[in-house]
Amino acid sequence: MQVDQLKVKITAINEVAPTIREFCLVPVDGELLPFSPGSHVVVEMDGGEKTYKNAYSLLSDPRDVSAYRIAVRLQDASRGGSKFMHEQVTVGDELKISTPANLFAPHWPAKKHVLIAGGVGITPFMAYLPELERRGADFELHYLYRSSQTGAYRELLSKRLGGRYFDYDSLGGSRCDAVEVLSNRNLGTHFYVCGPESLLSTVQQVAADLGIPDSAIHYETFAAPKPGEPFEAEISETGQVIPVGAEESLLEALEAAGVEVPNLCRGGVCGQCQCKVVSGDIEHRDNFLSAQDKAAGQSIMPCVSRSKSPRLVLDI
Ligand code: FES
Repeated sequence: MQVDQLKVKITAINEVAPTIREFCLVPVDGELLPFSPGSHVVVEMDGGEKTYKNAYSLLSDPRDVSAYRIAVRLQDASRGGSKFMHEQVTVGDELKISTPANLFAPHWPAKKHVLIAGGVGITPFMAYLPELERRGADFELHYLYRSSQTGAYRELLSKRLGGRYFDYDSLGGSRCDAVEVLSNRNLGTHFYVCGPESLLSTVQQVAADLGIPDSAIHYETFAAPKPGEPFEAEISETGQVIPVGAEESLLEALEAAGVEVPNLCRGGVCGQCQCKVVSGDIEHRDNFLSAQDKAAGQSIMPCVSRSKSPRLVLDI
């Protein structure tokens, strides 16, 4: 999928938690497009030697297209993108962003919506709330964070949602029991999870144990691809050999070498970047391919997955 780009200017930067900054983006020319709750944009950052592209959820009210707001957590092991946003970007700077895409929309026919956020995973739900409220939907929000690092917007959420808000600060010893949150729910309840991989896998495991169907669990993770061993990618048709460094993803290396690969989430969930593999041993790290597809070893999601062998030959 080819995604159009918009040029935006930063009009405000606010620290909303010790490691999270919120950026307000307005269009340089023209108008912003409306979006639906759960949408994200890919922000392109020109870091001189390297261009970073990270996906961030839109957290503003979807009906307000005067500005987009995103929140960026400074990642502990940042490969550059979140560090760039925190340390290089200032008010007045211009950035390129993709048009909004949605991989995490609410399932509106649901009888109840249970939102579970971990840390900066609160951001898509900030855009859910106005729409859930406007529709008079039945919902509740469970927010897990560590107040020394994350926990953005928690006072505002507590005031706004009252009894529909459940707060777990792990630093204060408050733990969320996923079994309790998922158990004894009426048929038609849908669960939405956004946060670190560990939160997602816990919820998926508990849901499976309780017999909750996969179709009632919706999730999103935007974890940056983890580093790994360097390897080479060869394009079978042209014979071009592209080195992939330890700190970059295969997708980033392909893009830097001028090889276009469609992409949307850059986090191993949407399926847009799927490439055929002619030879090589794939280290699958995505949540898109089935276990069978992974075992067959003929496809790779280059936004997150890597090669275990020194060279991977791709049919692009
Ligand atoms: S871009 Fe979405 S899976 Fe790779």
